[in-house]
Amino acid sequence: MPSHEVADLSLAEAGSARIAWAEGQMPVLAQVRERFAAERPLRDIRLAVCLHVTAETANLVATLIAGGAQVALCSANPLSAQDDVAAALVSAHGVEVHATRGEDIAAYTRHVHAVLDTNPHVTIDDGADLLATAHERGGPALETIIGGTEETTTGLVRLRRLEAAGKLRCPVLAVNEARTERALNDRHGTGQSALDGIVRASNVLLAGQTVVVLGYGWAGQGIAERARGAGAAVIVCEVDPLRALEARMAGYEVMRALEAAGRGDIFITVTGSVRVLRAAHFERMKDGAILANAGHFDVELDLDELAAQATDIRPVRPLVDQYELADGRRLHLLAQGRVVNLAAAEGHPAAVMDVSFALQALCAEELVRLRGAVAPAVLPVPNRIDVEVGRLKLAALGVAIDEQSDEQREYRQSWM
Ligand code: ADE
Repeated sequence: MPSHEVADLSLAEAGSARIAWAEGQMPVLAQVRERFAAERPLRDIRLAVCLHVTAETANLVATLIAGGAQVALCSANPLSAQDDVAAALVSAHGVEVHATRGEDIAAYTRHVHAVLDTNPHVTIDDGADLLATAHERGGPALETIIGGTEETTTGLVRLRRLEAAGKLRCPVLAVNEARTERALNDRHGTGQSALDGIVRASNVLLAGQTVVVLGYGWAGQGIAERARGAGAAVIVCEVDPLRALEARMAGYEVMRALEAAGRGDIFITVTGSVRVLRAAHFERMKDGAILANAGHFDVELDLDELAAQATDIRPVRPLVDQYELADGRRLHLLAQGRVVNLAAAEGHPAAVMDVSFALQALCAEELVRLRGAVAPAVLPVPNRIDVEVGRLKLAALGVAIDEQSDEQREYRQSWM
């Protein structure tokens, strides 16, 4: 049995069933796995992985192992680990896993350190906790790292700050910004799964509700689109004028958050920023309003200010806390303000993570191939990898496309 800290190994059978179900919807990753098993490009590589511990992640881990890697895994969020999957990874796949759903911050941090203690060659992050902690720690955990990959916008923001400060010590491939990732992950993944989390937690009917989406990046666009498709009236709040303009031109009402505060039935923050909804907004909200966060960190809703306004806080359903305010209004906070699609649902569907994790596996291979040959920087995913993943996904969907003729290629390359 590998070193592990998981909730309950007896859940392994249920976890294996869930992993197998996801596998059926991850055909691109399956093809990568088949090649990895034949070629073993990750032989003798120690891989540290800090991702949400889900059935989809388990399929990535199995692919990395097929490639010859030794993998240690911790969770990218204290509330997102699927305990049955963690158990299956330990007992059926022999993976070192440090993750329990609902772990406190001390346990979360201990788990990140435990994974770094394996002195990895390659890191795979979702939020940059592994690489940020390795840089903070220094020593062997940093010296052995030949490169890392990053799954989220938030993680890339942190890593680019490290780079700008001249402190980044290894190359990082920005998986989050690959074209195939852009096509599926934030927009279709978060778009569907954030609403899935809200509906699972609250069982609310979206039709006829006013949904306020705070942040109109890729994920915000996906959420707004899905909410509108479900029959909700959508208001968008955004600080970037160009994105606000895009939202207006897409037909949404766009306004300041203070104005939207009195209009919304459901509020969803997805900005990557801090204290987006705070006391001044809570003061204006309607009785029964629902508050959810779909951003990576649980800092977008100011929960201290919410608690300070409340005369009573009580759980009214699993993952729903009711904050009763002095004037009798009740605000309902979902999943403690943590990323709602993973805390209250299962994250992005496997068909989305198929692309993300095929990219992750191929980028890990690329970092090993380039070992020592690239300077420390945040780098784009090579176009060749992006195109390969896009082709494989299209083929898996049964979609055939045309090829440019020589005449068309020449025409498009000519400046005349
Ligand atoms: N991030 C978003 N959805 C995910 C999933 N299903 N598995 C792992 N990471 C995710």
